Formats: sequence, structure tokens, C-alpha cells
Amino acid sequence: MTTVYLNGQYLPLEQASISVLDRGFLFGDGVYEVIPVYDRRPFRMADHLRRLQHSLDGIRLANPHSAAEWAALAEGIVARCEWNDVGVYLQITRGPGPRDHVFPAQAHPTVFLMPLQLSAPAAPLVEHGVAAITAQDNRWLRCDLKATSLLANVLLRQQSVDAGCAETVLLRDGWLMEGSASSVFVVRDGVILAPPESNLILPGVTYEVVLEIARAEGLPHAVRPVAEAELRDAEEVWITSSTKEVMAVTTLDGQPVGDGRPGPVFRRVLAAYQAYKHTVMRGQAA
Ligand code: PDD
Repeated sequence: MTTVYLNGQYLPLEQASISVLDRGFLFGDGVYEVIPVYDRRPFRMADHLRRLQHSLDGIRLANPHSAAEWAALAEGIVARCEWNDVGVYLQITRGPGPRDHVFPAQAHPTVFLMPLQLSAPAAPLVEHGVAAITAQDNRWLRCDLKATSLLANVLLRQQSVDAGCAETVLLRDGWLMEGSASSVFVVRDGVILAPPESNLILPGVTYEVVLEIARAEGLPHAVRPVAEAELRDAEEVWITSSTKEVMAVTTLDGQPVGDGRPGPVFRRVLAAYQAYKHTVMRGQAA
């Protein structure tokens, strides 16, 4: 049985229901987070809660809980869940109200948390990498907000599935942005390149961890715009997210990336990422 949290109560998933007038349902008027928990220890919870606040500020919705309360709610989900590794999904919408674009005078936000099964990327995917396609980024201009209105991301992600691929890498005006549900890094001349944070991409928590690793390990890296042409003849391309961790893209639009195998810089970063994850699991980092 899966236990979820809805507006003050833990209850079985089957019993959780909301009003059809909820603005999350009618307008996608809400924000969310996915917080990975490994061996029942949350990974970078503070970063996720900071980004949640940024998303709430961006949609002008007051945060219904303090960081300590969010941590306790997430812990409540983990404690009631049978899995040791779990993604805590949390969502806040502007709640129910008359079907009107205008905010209700008094919002009663809907707060929902549920566990998502989290499994480390399968060994063959880590070993061989994954295939991706590119597409033009047709999302709005506030991609820095983790909003539940994900229709553009959903359609873009489905394009990769239809092409038998793992992700859609998004390009805007000739520049690399991110994936439909991940951040994207490239390696050129041995240098890790990361598109800079802006209103056009989500500030990925895993992205930040990868940059911390690059700094700590002394790996050459630069945070700067990456042109489409640089993506297309990169030595390595990676996607990162809280659910995928760090994965090598070894085929892009049917062409091999570099020699078509996960590269040496990827292997170093992945090893450091795994080591860091284990320090979190031992309670030596958060
Ligand atoms: N998505 N960019 C987009 C558009 C994303 O949806 C995600 C993650 C990321 C990576 O962010 P992070 O490293 O903080 O997970 C970047 C989550 C996992 C999801 O929507 O399920």
C-alpha cells in the first residue's frame, strides 16, 4: 500500500482526492519538487527546498510550510514507505476556486506528497550510455520555475520515446538549454561545459552537485553558453537529474557522440558522484 500526504493527512493513495476545481488541475497552477532519498537519507534536501521557495515566489504563492515542516513531511512519507531509496514528490497548487484565470482572493493551497520508486540507472545504461534526440525548445520563458504545467516538457519528452531514445535535448536560438527533464553538460577539449543558469533552464540540483565535483576534483570546467555546433561535435554529452543521476549520451540524433562510448571525464564524475552519494547514505553529508 502506498501512503501519501494530502492537506494535513497521511492516507492511502486510493483515498487521496482533490476538487475538480483545483487550480492545479484546471490551470497547472502549481509547483513541485522531486527529492531523492537514499537508504532513507534525503539527498540535498536544503537545495530542493530553496528551489521550491524560488518557484513559489515566481508564481506568487506563499510557502505554506517552513523548511523544518517540509523536512518532517518528507520524513513522514519515507517512514511510511517500504522502499529504502525513494523520490519524495511534493506539489503545491493554488488550490480550489472558481474557474477564473485571476487568483482567488484567498488561496487555500493544496499540498500533496507521495513516494516515487527510485532506482539507480541500470548498469547497461551506465556502461553504454543512452541515445538522445534534439528538438527546438518551445517552452515558455520561465523554465527556472519548477511548475507543474509541464505540457511542453511532456510533448518534448514523448518525442524521444517515439524515437526509441532516452531524452530530448533542447535547443533555443542555436544554443543548448537542457533536456526535457534533465540538465545537460558537454565536454570539449577535456573541458566540462555547462550552460549558465537563467530564466530559460531549471537550476538543477544535480547540475550543482556536478559543478561542485568538478571544482573539488580540479576538473577543467566552464559555465558558459554552449552553441548547437559545440554540442554536435562534443567529445562527451551527459544528462543529469535527481532520478537519472549522471548518464552519458552516446548517440545524438543518430550520430555517435565522440567515439560512441561513455568518456573518461564522465567516468570520473560518475565515480565522484557515487562516492558523494555514499557519504550522504552514511549520514556524513546531506
Ligand atoms: N526533473 N531540467 C528539467 C526541465 C527537469 O525537469 C529536471 C528534473 C532537471 C534536473 O533537475 P534536478 O537535478 O534538480 O533533478 C533539469 C525531475 C526529476 C522531474 O521532473 O521528474
